[in-house]
Formats: sequence, C-alpha cells, structure tokens
Amino acid sequence: MAVLVTGGAGYIGSHTVSEFMAQGEDVIVLDNLQKGHCDAVLAKTFYEGDIRDSELLDKVFSSHDIEAVVHFAADSLVGESVQIPLQYYDNNLITAQRLLVCMEKHGVKKIVFSSTAATYGEPKSIPILETDSKEPTNPYGETKLAIENMLKWCGQAYGISSVALRYFNAAGAHLDGHIGEDHRPESHLIPIILQVALGQRDSLQIFGDDYPTPDGTCVRDYIHVTDLAMAHWLSLEKLRKTQKSSVYNLGNGEGFSVRQVVEKAREVTGHVIPVQVVPRRAGDPAVLIASSEKALAELGWKPKFNSLEQIIKTAWNWQQYHPDGFIK
Ligand code: UFG
Repeated sequence: MAVLVTGGAGYIGSHTVSEFMAQGEDVIVLDNLQKGHCDAVLAKTFYEGDIRDSELLDKVFSSHDIEAVVHFAADSLVGESVQIPLQYYDNNLITAQRLLVCMEKHGVKKIVFSSTAATYGEPKSIPILETDSKEPTNPYGETKLAIENMLKWCGQAYGISSVALRYFNAAGAHLDGHIGEDHRPESHLIPIILQVALGQRDSLQIFGDDYPTPDGTCVRDYIHVTDLAMAHWLSLEKLRKTQKSSVYNLGNGEGFSVRQVVEKAREVTGHVIPVQVVPRRAGDPAVLIASSEKALAELGWKPKFNSLEQIIKTAWNWQQYHPDGFIK
C-alpha cells in the first residue's frame, strides 16, 4: 500500500519523502509546484497538480491503493497570511476539506497533518504544552487550527484517525546535501543569515532588539528538518498500531535568540555576517519554545540533530553547494 504525500516537493515535504523511502514506504507525491521544486521530488510516482483539481485527486486515489496521507501542501508564511488572508483560507482550509472529502470517499482512514506552533499565538507560559490555549494571531495559524478541528470532527464522523504535528522552527538540510531549504522569496532566519555569509546579501536585518529576552532579540526553538521528517513516520506507525488521533509539538525544547543564531553561524561558516537592527516584524512573539515531552513519550521520537551547530552546519552544507537553491 502507498502513502500519499501532498506538498512532497516542498522543504519539509521532500525531507519527509526521503525519510519514508528510507523506511521502505511506497510514496506518491502530489504537488502543484507553486512553492515546491521538481528536483526536490524524490518519489518515483509524482503527480503535478492541485488538490482542488477534483478530477486529478480522484484519479490519484483511484489509481493507487492509498493507505494514508501525509498532508503538507499549504501556504505557510505568517506575514503574507496577514496581507492575503483569503488566499490562505483557500490554499489551506479549502484544500484540506477537499482532501478529506476524497479520503472519505475512497475509505482512506489515516492522515498525518503538518500543523504549526502558530496555532498557539502569543504563549502564556514557556515551554508550550499541547493543551495550552490556542489563540492564533494570524490567518496562517488560524487556518491550521481550523484544519486540526476539522480532523477531530472527521475522526468522529468518518473514523479517519489523524496526527497533527505542531512544528516550531524547522531548519537545516538533509545530511547528504541533496535537498534543502529554498523559499522564494526567502524570509526565514537561518537561510537569510547563510545568504549573508555567501555574500548574496549585505547584512542580516534583525527584527527588533527590544523584546523582553536576555539580549532583546526573539527566541525560537529550532528543530532539524530530518528530525521533523522522522516524527511523521513515527506518527504513521502510531496510527497503524492504535488508530488513535493525537496532536504533538515538535521542537528541541531549547530556545536561541536571533543574536545567538548569528553568533553560531559566524562560528560555523567563518564569515563575519554583518547585522543591522531594524524595527520589530509585526506578529512576532518574543519567545516560542516547545515542550515535546508528549512526542518523546508517545511516539518514541528522539531528535538526532538537536544542537544548533548541527542544524546550521547541515544548512550551510546545502547552501554552499546550492547557492541558488534548486535553480541549476
Ligand atoms: N528574523 C530576523 N530577521 C530576518 C528573518 C527573521 O530577525 O531576516 C527573526 C524573526 O523576527 C524571528 C526569528 O528570526 O524572531 C525567526 O524567524 P523565521 O521567519 O525564521 O521564523 P518564524 O519564527 O517567524 O516562523 C516559523 C515558521 C512559521 C511558523 C512559526 C511558528 O516559518 O511557518 O515558525 O512559530 F508558523
């Protein structure tokens, strides 16, 4: 039986496909390549198209014996979601609804869903627990939370069991350097820092140094993309064994400030990496750190690349040899 990975040409999607294939899974990728990259598709079976294309979706589900879906396909930029919320409702929420309709029709009963720490909004306490209040402060987090709720109701009504994985800050690249992070435009901290190290940008703009944190810059919990990928496979294994729906945070449980990340990147790359402090970016919480105790206990998940140095080293390995990402 096969596992359908939607958004399998994207950053976390492609690393997950790689991990699933390493585990011997038969993987099918569906991606419209709006954000993903053809060269990041590692599965032999690839459908280029959109989940909202109901004919295509039906064809995919009819042509293969699909056991489970791992659903990444979505828009995922916090700032952009505030500018164009309706696109986020369309690309994220409506797409998930269409996917679930098709799963229900074809009797597919398992889904692992790519959710986010943005479902929590401004945290009331640190580290963040899965049971903490969820008050998203942007449409991105709002749509992901709505999908989590949709999954809950689909579980009750149709017996579709789900695992929603709330990622903190995904970073790093595959150990062998053949896939990595390539967003256009790039807005994430570590790839931008490394672009400065490569001389592709003059300096890093630090968005605010007046936060209530030790050095005034925002603190985040960086988690290696391959560790995230592994959590998806463990989640599927759990669904295979128990059919019980759950939600898990995925982070390393340790926070690093923007300045600490820059300092570590200077050590790893040997480059100066000039910075410039600019005003805060709207919607950035001061501190986001996960408690991943539940995933550690229930999934048997154990992050392997849990030092900031390892995370930056793998990202640097990718970025040095692919300065233009997937563009040849
Ligand atoms: N930052 C800068 N300068 C930059 C880019 C980022 O100072 O040029 C700072 C941000 O202000 C933030 C930190 O670096 O404090 C990390 O920013 P990222 O853009 O790399 O990541 P975010 O924390 O904003 O967002 C990530 C994911 C989202 C997810 C969110 C959950 O990209 O999809 O974590 O908290 F919703």
